[in-house]
Amino acid sequence: MPVKYIPYYPNTIEGQAILNNIIRKQRVLRYHENDKVYNRIKRGMPFYEVEPIETVGGPSDNLVIRGECISACAYLKEKGVKVDLVYIDPPFASGADYAKKIYLRRNPKLAEKIAAAKQEMEIEELKAFEEKMYGDIWRKEDYLNWMYENLMVIKSIMSEQGNIFVHLDASIGHYVKILMDEVFGEHNFINEIVWYYPDNFQGNVKGFAGNHDNIFWYCIDKDNYIANRVFIDLGKTVKRDKRVWSKEEQKLVAARDENGKIIYNDYSEKKADDVWSIGQSSVTKEKSKEFADYATQKPSELLRRIIEGGSNEFRDHEKTEKIIVADFFGGSGVTAKIANDLGRKFIHVDIGINSIQTVRDRLIQAKADFHILEIKDGVSLFRNPQQTMDKLAMLIPGLHRNISGISNFWFGAVTESKAGTVPVYVPNLLNTQEKVLDIPAVNTIINQELQNLEISVNKVIVYYTDIDDQKALEKFIKENNATEIEVELKDLKNLLHEIVIEDIVEFAVTKAGTVYVTEITKFLSDRLIQKIDEFNQKGNLQSLVKGKKFDPINISEEGLELIELISLDCENTEGPWHSSTEIKIDKLGYVINNGVRTKEFWDGKITSDKMPKRIKIRNISGDETIKNISEIL
Ligand SMILES: C[S@@+](CC[C@H](N)C(=O)[O-])C[C@H]1O[C@@H](n2cnc3c(N)ncnc32)[C@H](O)[C@@H]1O
Repeated sequence: MPVKYIPYYPNTIEGQAILNNIIRKQRVLRYHENDKVYNRIKRGMPFYEVEPIETVGGPSDNLVIRGECISACAYLKEKGVKVDLVYIDPPFASGADYAKKIYLRRNPKLAEKIAAAKQEMEIEELKAFEEKMYGDIWRKEDYLNWMYENLMVIKSIMSEQGNIFVHLDASIGHYVKILMDEVFGEHNFINEIVWYYPDNFQGNVKGFAGNHDNIFWYCIDKDNYIANRVFIDLGKTVKRDKRVWSKEEQKLVAARDENGKIIYNDYSEKKADDVWSIGQSSVTKEKSKEFADYATQKPSELLRRIIEGGSNEFRDHEKTEKIIVADFFGGSGVTAKIANDLGRKFIHVDIGINSIQTVRDRLIQAKADFHILEIKDGVSLFRNPQQTMDKLAMLIPGLHRNISGISNFWFGAVTESKAGTVPVYVPNLLNTQEKVLDIPAVNTIINQELQNLEISVNKVIVYYTDIDDQKALEKFIKENNATEIEVELKDLKNLLHEIVIEDIVEFAVTKAGTVYVTEITKFLSDRLIQKIDEFNQKGNLQSLVKGKKFDPINISEEGLELIELISLDCENTEGPWHSSTEIKIDKLGYVINNGVRTKEFWDGKITSDKMPKRIKIRNISGDETIKNISEIL
């Protein structure tokens, strides 16, 4: 489908987005290639198809959106939604790849024995392997262009009294602050909050250990923004002089009694300043209540201060309209969860399936009402962009990486084809600027990259996830390609859709008295078996090289240890999912029944009051499989 573009601002002028608060002739922050982003801003934000996936609880405007920040904002803008408080904790360009440990659950057949012995297994004893969640490796210039575009798009949907908190660290924060001066206006800067985490111990550091992040608070209009006092618990009582406002001196002064003596009070809390000491252990330690097992998860207390400090519950004095709190890089969903606890509406956006599942389950436990939407922006084709990129290398038949004579611009080349060596271009899904194949991108390919090839080539393949106008591009190539090399355009989505095989689930539904019992008898997941095989091969190899003992992961015949969640929809056979009842199995094998934690082990069954119409199974890596029951029975 051709992409539709929505303007950021009504009258964007050449090379410069119109900002309603500062007028500048030039960018404040100048860096190599900082002009690259202008064409994209000028073109507008891409608007894609949106699919409703699930409705949880009663009617509400709360949204959990799977998609990219930019495309989610385009959707909200098109719908006329304005947000009042934005908190974002985007990738920091930290140079890290974030991974998640995937734990195998108990097989109910074997678990019976373990349960009988009432033995609780320690996390370290559980079988686990790792999966990539998202990559945070950027060239600084690309990162800043990307950030600039994200800030522009977010600003375009903020309300007049809006506040934005951008969470970064010392490696990139100072650059982004200058971008924020440009996008929001220097005079709309409110605070730089330093989040200090004293419980982080680092040993081998040359210099001081970096134990803080920076959060920049800007508003849309300094004459009309929300700022509330936030109080923090001192953990003890302290004596301090009582402060009162002196009209004569026009400042706060110590209060005195009738004898002129300073009045002292006991205080157990104080108004927060801009340095916040909040430990990380609540989000990193297995035993803590809020630990959601999400790399980079932030503590609830951090978000409590931001949301209480930067928003009210209602937009208006009449209390008719609730404030909307949005997080466009939502991760574990801490913003949505705390916004909901504090009576605000929320919007959670993230590109990773793991984030969407984590926040969904967290919000169900918090009894929130919300809708889950998926934006068909082609970024999260397979779990998350990072894993999609890894998978692509295996999916393109005959593809080899790092071929001499072709530059890094190319993903690789198909070497043994009839057409000889065929270089293959694949857009980097982690960099949104490469996502749309348009005339400038094709121009670079035919007028630069084809000419730079050091080997003789008859054909190249150019993959795309989004295309401006295929016919126009093909015409452009025909008219402007000065080489004899054929350029074939191919849709990346087809490649992935053909190859992703659904998990196989076998089950039986029986009626026992007034309830229906669905028993899962077998679960087979090719995708997980592949992953586990890779893990075992790597482990075996390392054990050979390093002589360390390696205990491989073996899957039972029933495969039930690969299941994380089972949900039954007793209402609909198609359309958005309605979870009539569901059980989630935690890492230790305990059941979370419709959001309520229990100390029971899963017995392989799930019961419902009504005859189920559909069953959804989520495996431990997050792939979901839906089966219509009526068709099967
Ligand atoms: C640092 S984490 C956020 C952690 C979150 N604040 C929390 O407390 O759990 C960054 C998140 O941004 C997501 N992400 C990365 N690029 C994105 C994009 N372009 N649009 C939306 N989400 C993105 C990643 O999947 C990841 O979950």
